[in-house]
Amino acid sequence: MAQLPPPEHVAIIMDGNNRWARQRFLPRAMGHKAGIEAIRPVAEACDRLGIRILTVFAFSTENWKRPQDEVETLMELFGETIRREVETCVRRGVEMRFCGRLDELSSGLREQMRQANERTRANSHAVLNVAVNYGGRQEIVDAVREMARAGVDLSRLEEGMVARHLYTRDLPDPDLIIRTAGEMRLSNFLLWQAAYAEFYSTPTLWPDFGEADLAEAVDVFNRRVRRFGSRPEEVEHRGR
Ligand code: IPE
Ligand code: IPE
Ligand code: MG
Repeated sequence: MAQLPPPEHVAIIMDGNNRWARQRFLPRAMGHKAGIEAIRPVAEACDRLGIRILTVFAFSTENWKRPQDEVETLMELFGETIRREVETCVRRGVEMRFCGRLDELSSGLREQMRQANERTRANSHAVLNVAVNYGGRQEIVDAVREMARAGVDLSRLEEGMVARHLYTRDLPDPDLIIRTAGEMRLSNFLLWQAAYAEFYSTPTLWPDFGEADLAEAVDVFNRRVRRFGSRPEEVEHRGR
């Protein structure tokens, strides 16, 4: 059988860091550290599997409800990781992007994000899109606010107009959304863009997720039939 094309855009809800730490009697921070370190091998595996765009959910608009020390640990880890990974992205030809309500993050972190994006902006090989302080509902509200400010006649609003005002305006919708740690919910992730994504959940905790797990998810994706609302016999490509 001919090789099926890989999904173009994979989005991952990286969940289970705390459970991973608890299983090992380690402090929470170690779980988050291990979680952050799991991103690079998965991003590199995307290259090998032909996945061009990887979006990872790093921090939700609801995650501020966590204990302050946990939030602080996460923010520090993000800063360190961006600084460290930017050169890897330059070398791999990957554009690093960030999406979410970034203006609510510390000015130091925002500056690091800005610099990382600037250093990698010209890269066209692949995209690593990191969702930080991201909420799908907030994204839609922000899009509508932006249109209202621009004087768009909202009584004539169309889908394409909304899509063009989302944080992900110049990215295709994800084909495959993976959630680790066994939960079966979106937790406010890419609500608009997920409309026709295939959803895959694995019990593997995020720090343990690696290339073999990603390959397995892609394999399952390739065996799915995406109908987009049409009749099955009208669907020409599997996994598309
Ligand atoms: C995901 O791991 C990381 C973030 C949400 C920031 P969790 O911290 O949610 O880990 P569990 O789900 O409690 O195990
Ligand atoms: C979703 O995980 C957010 C991220 C992975 C960043 P949560 O652990 O916050 O989600 P819930 O609370 O289980 O829905
Ligand atoms: Mg969780």
